[in-house]
Amino acid sequence: MAGRATRRTREVAEAFVRHMHAFAREVRLTEAEFEYGIDFLNRIGQATHDLHNEAILFSDVIGFSTLVCLLNNGNAGATETASALLGPFWRMNSPCVANGGSIVRSPTPGPALFADCRITDPTGRPLAGVEVDVWQASPVGLYENQDPGQCDMNLRGKFTTDADGRFSFRSVKPAGYPVPTDGPSGDLLRAQGRHPFRPAHLHFLGFKEGYKTLVTQVFVDDDERLESDVVFGVTAHLVGNYRPGKGTPPAPDVTGPWYRLDYDFVMEPGAAKLPRPPIK
Ligand code: BEZ
Ligand code: FE
Repeated sequence: MAGRATRRTREVAEAFVRHMHAFAREVRLTEAEFEYGIDFLNRIGQATHDLHNEAILFSDVIGFSTLVCLLNNGNAGATETASALLGPFWRMNSPCVANGGSIVRSPTPGPALFADCRITDPTGRPLAGVEVDVWQASPVGLYENQDPGQCDMNLRGKFTTDADGRFSFRSVKPAGYPVPTDGPSGDLLRAQGRHPFRPAHLHFLGFKEGYKTLVTQVFVDDDERLESDVVFGVTAHLVGNYRPGKGTPPAPDVTGPWYRLDYDFVMEPGAAKLPRPPIK
């Protein structure tokens, strides 16, 4: 690479090759295992299409996505961060929803959820005009792109924070769900003897010029799998207080149990850059 690659390419490529060789030496990789590994990589590519991203899923289940997130947020990994991994299910171009509106677009079971959120800068100053994507799985555990029973863009919406940095919306309380296990990442989990579940959560992506794009999740506090998220996304900071609603519900059509979530986000000054969408 002398003289040709950029310094950064050289640094990354050298370390990658060095660690791959060290890995083979450490485990004394057999030829059969080598062939299995090559086939595994090919299957990751073959399983990926417009509606599914197996490469991100693989990175997620081996904890690599969370590691990269922690290295690049929270003061370069030195402090608690408000960020979490993107996952394979963010879609660009979610429909815009007015503050207070609902992201439930087709009949979806589960208790109603009313979320009131606020975004500030690190000094506590409210950030107006942040575009916030919200997305979640339905209480049956599937994102709309995985489930013909949901309409396009169900449980997805884009909000804009008001002058006080606030945005609010109605949805359904999320439930935990298994990540897709019908591809090579599922084979890995089975071989490792690990469960495939994520604790219940909402996803958020906050975008505003002049601020580092905030990609994060807010987890449901009573979920039994907070400590064993298959993709290692949970930090104490990201556990939300999903409180059972008391008294008159905020909407007249709510008949059963309902919940409230109040959550504050902090966005740090930095470059606003959207991630490459994992799926279309
Ligand atoms: C998700 O939360 O959407 C997710 C993250 C990692 C793997 C699978 C799903
Ligand atoms: Fe998710």
